[in-house]
Amino acid sequence: MPSLIPDDPSVLLTTAGMQQFKPYFLGKADPIKDFGSKNTASIQKSFRTSDIDLVGDESHLTFFEMLGNFSFGGYFKKEAIEYGYEFIVKELGLEIHYVTVFGGDREVGADEESVKIWQSLGVKDIRKGSREDNFWGPTGSEGPCGPTTEIYVRGVEVWNLVFNEYYCHPGGKLEKLRTPGVDTGMGLERLVMVVQNMPTIFETDLFKPIFNFLDQRLSKPRPEWSKRIIADHIRGIVFLIVDGVRPSNKDQGYILRRLMRRAMPHLLEFQLWDPVVVGEKNDHAFKMRGLELVADCVIREYSKIKDYKYLSDRREEILKVIREENDSFDRVYENGSKVLEKIINKAVSDGTFVISGKDIFDLVTSHGFSIEWIKDKARKIHGLKLELDVFDEEFKKHQEVSRAGLEKKFGGHGLILNTGELKAGDEAELKKVTRLHTATHLLQWALREVLGKEVKQAGSDITPERTRFDFTFPRKLTPEETKKVEELVNQKIMENLPVSFKEMPRLEAEKTGALYFFKEKYPDKVKVYYIGKSLESAVSKEFCGGPHVDHTSKIGEFKIDPRAPRPLCFFSLRLL
Ligand code: ALA
Repeated sequence: MPSLIPDDPSVLLTTAGMQQFKPYFLGKADPIKDFGSKNTASIQKSFRTSDIDLVGDESHLTFFEMLGNFSFGGYFKKEAIEYGYEFIVKELGLEIHYVTVFGGDREVGADEESVKIWQSLGVKDIRKGSREDNFWGPTGSEGPCGPTTEIYVRGVEVWNLVFNEYYCHPGGKLEKLRTPGVDTGMGLERLVMVVQNMPTIFETDLFKPIFNFLDQRLSKPRPEWSKRIIADHIRGIVFLIVDGVRPSNKDQGYILRRLMRRAMPHLLEFQLWDPVVVGEKNDHAFKMRGLELVADCVIREYSKIKDYKYLSDRREEILKVIREENDSFDRVYENGSKVLEKIINKAVSDGTFVISGKDIFDLVTSHGFSIEWIKDKARKIHGLKLELDVFDEEFKKHQEVSRAGLEKKFGGHGLILNTGELKAGDEAELKKVTRLHTATHLLQWALREVLGKEVKQAGSDITPERTRFDFTFPRKLTPEETKKVEELVNQKIMENLPVSFKEMPRLEAEKTGALYFFKEKYPDKVKVYYIGKSLESAVSKEFCGGPHVDHTSKIGEFKIDPRAPRPLCFFSLRLL
């Protein structure tokens, strides 16, 4: 099942079933070749941060499974709507409460065709929606999008049928797609809720085991909304970790950290934090703490499903990541929660009932709290207000400053090392990133050797743990190709080639044949980093700001993460 980390560098996480199919909608990949048909269907793990503040109500989740059927120039509105009707009414025996269709605006006309199709099926309650409600996409900054029709059962939106007729360019300009397509999405959890006739998703058999577990373990009765947050977040945490995300202060890692650091105090607040005896003494389980225990419950339950069996195979690894984050949060938590209590008491005693943006900023950046937990605690538990707009502004400024500091530290054009939150001044991390940076240059060279010169860099991301290199290539890499790339890189590491740079005018640098990242704007004078004895004989030449190791043997062993290779790949480099 495709990962929660998409091939598409314009988004952090997979938010919909169509994510992996973007190239097919655009005619860049051939569905007949890959699926034997212009039509296909999927189940896709999805994650949406946009709903994170709504988690706790009856039907919102961060992590969910999306069911969908897709057509890339095969069937269109008539069949898509008929299939939707057939599945909901005939297969599941449910009643369609009402449907919505796009009502049109200045740019895109109303979808009268869908209205007629629904009428022909006998659906009477057809409601018109605005651009905001009945026009979907794109995911990320650009991509396919179009008007939608949604199916509601018992007032719950269960299925969204999107008619991808447009390409949305960055900035919002719409262009008609040559071949229109169909993209549909139905959240499994909501579907189960209406099929099992439950008032909330959390009462379905998908969540029951987690709730039963919480009810058994938690020592005092606690609000439903808190349990829902724990149950939602723990599923997200487990699936993010198994797909390779690790807690950090950046990108996907930051999302994971926020989920963990919200769920942990929820458990602590309600006493599921302390060590719980669940096994023999000396058994690792003996030392497990709250979040690990709930994660273990999720792993146990989901592993019963064949497609998710890999969760139990990687149980130890998942639990270890949680344990380590648990420990690191634990070290700052006690002090931080005292500060938070003080701030809350002050807001109550001075009669303002407001927590200032500066205090929130401090709690997030200095005390490691998740913004969502601060909201839960201050708003939901204590009924206070938060100056969130001030916080947002401060936080944005803070991120910009760390980025600028980093680029200065790396002395470059901000080319590759756009690593956001890497702490400057931490020499150990800097060393690791530098090794991975040189490895990334070798990787690009090796990919072009094995796959051909059409390989183009689409993005890159280096953290102290691994490097990720995104590139455009129209198909999956075979295991043999991946192996070959790995071998070539390791061979150059073994040869211990020198790494040097020459500074020269940009036009002259272009003539050397050095690679540059097309998305980047370069100054008139650039550095060309090359790996080899001279610029002329070098295996790799790239426009780059550095830093790099001085000899390739300093990189260590290079290893490609076998779970990753796809058209845009995620590689990790094991540092020895
Ligand atoms: N891509 C559409 C959605 O996520 C179906 O709602």
